[in-house]
Amino acid sequence: MKLSNLKILVTGGAGFIGSHLVDALIEKNNQLIVLDDFSSGKKSNLAQASASGKLEIFDQCILNYQEIYPLFSEVDVVFHMATRNVRLSLKQPTIVHDVNTTGTLNVLKAAKGNGVQKFLYCSSSEVNGTAVKVPMKEDYAYNPETIYGASKLTGEYYTQVFERSGWLNTVIARPHNNYGPREHWEGMLGEVIPRFILMGLLNEKPTIFGDGKQTRDFTYVTETVRHLIAITENDQCRGEIFNICKGNEVSVLDIAKIISKQLGRELDPVFLKSRPSDVLRLFGDNSKLKEFVSSAPEMDIEEGMQLTIDWFKENIDLEMVKGSEKLADINWDKLDSEPWLEG
Ligand SMILES: NC(=O)c1ccc[n+]([C@@H]2O[C@H](COP(=O)([O-])OP(=O)(O)OC[C@H]3O[C@@H](n4cnc5c(N)ncnc54)[C@H](O)[C@@H]3O)[C@@H](O)[C@H]2O)c1
Repeated sequence: MKLSNLKILVTGGAGFIGSHLVDALIEKNNQLIVLDDFSSGKKSNLAQASASGKLEIFDQCILNYQEIYPLFSEVDVVFHMATRNVRLSLKQPTIVHDVNTTGTLNVLKAAKGNGVQKFLYCSSSEVNGTAVKVPMKEDYAYNPETIYGASKLTGEYYTQVFERSGWLNTVIARPHNNYGPREHWEGMLGEVIPRFILMGLLNEKPTIFGDGKQTRDFTYVTETVRHLIAITENDQCRGEIFNICKGNEVSVLDIAKIISKQLGRELDPVFLKSRPSDVLRLFGDNSKLKEFVSSAPEMDIEEGMQLTIDWFKENIDLEMVKGSEKLADINWDKLDSEPWLEG
């Protein structure tokens, strides 16, 4: 199924990866619907897409089934990208559970009820937990270490049930850590690469939680998007799960070194206590992706990092970031609640 001249709905389309996906699908001449509650997404991420005249945006929560159901009318393809984030799940597991499991079930049901032809569920490498053996294939033993990881895994299982029952034609993507333009830097959403870049640009010392030897398979965002589209277009991929990753292992210390080199100044990080439930090792095997779509993410981290630094320099106002609470050292325990005390 070629993704061109179709009506495509993207949940979470105002988010980091979702908005790049929307841009790429508009580029392919599709009509887009974004369903997003803007809990972490931003209208500004959709500025380019809005200017195309091919985008409709609905500010809706996927937990409101009656409201979202009609939005799927006459939709050909759904990309389910909406999620609540891993660090939130440390303090407020219930909302993360609700959105990632009940919300996913709602999106699956609405897609089935409206006769959607193709459904992509965007999962996460966090379903694996810390790698014991690398690189991790798609059938790696599932040991999620957070409610986020476990709820993303539940979403995979629900998607597989809709596939096995013959209710929907589905595919599951399991991206590893993405980086690039529009990545979250602020507060609890802030990820390591943009935080390091902004701290470096501000001549401040970035924070490393733990010893910095934890690794991720960092993948440039537009490369992830290209492969989300590729596995959705390719009928052989139906019912399968795919790691979407560069297939390299990069530590947080490596990231600090690469950014130091590219900014031309030592970052000199400060080391603080480890983040609870931090996954210590992630390194994906992308050979299944290569086998099915004859391609996988290729961009070297140095090249992707330079593009990311350039974007942050051009698009983020350093005066606004300076001294901002949003770049606070520890970005997971500012929430008041303890998980056991929430309703
Ligand atoms: N960023 C990564 O490194 C990474 C890695 C692996 C997997 N993923 C997966 O990719 C997808 C996109 O992640 P992202 O990094 O772009 O996150 P993001 O937070 O930038 O985007 C998520 C979007 O979902 C929206 N959303 C949240 N709750 C919603 C709700 N109840 N109803 C409607 N919309 C809601 C948010 O407003 C946001 O726009 C997610 O499924 C995530 O699990 C991301």
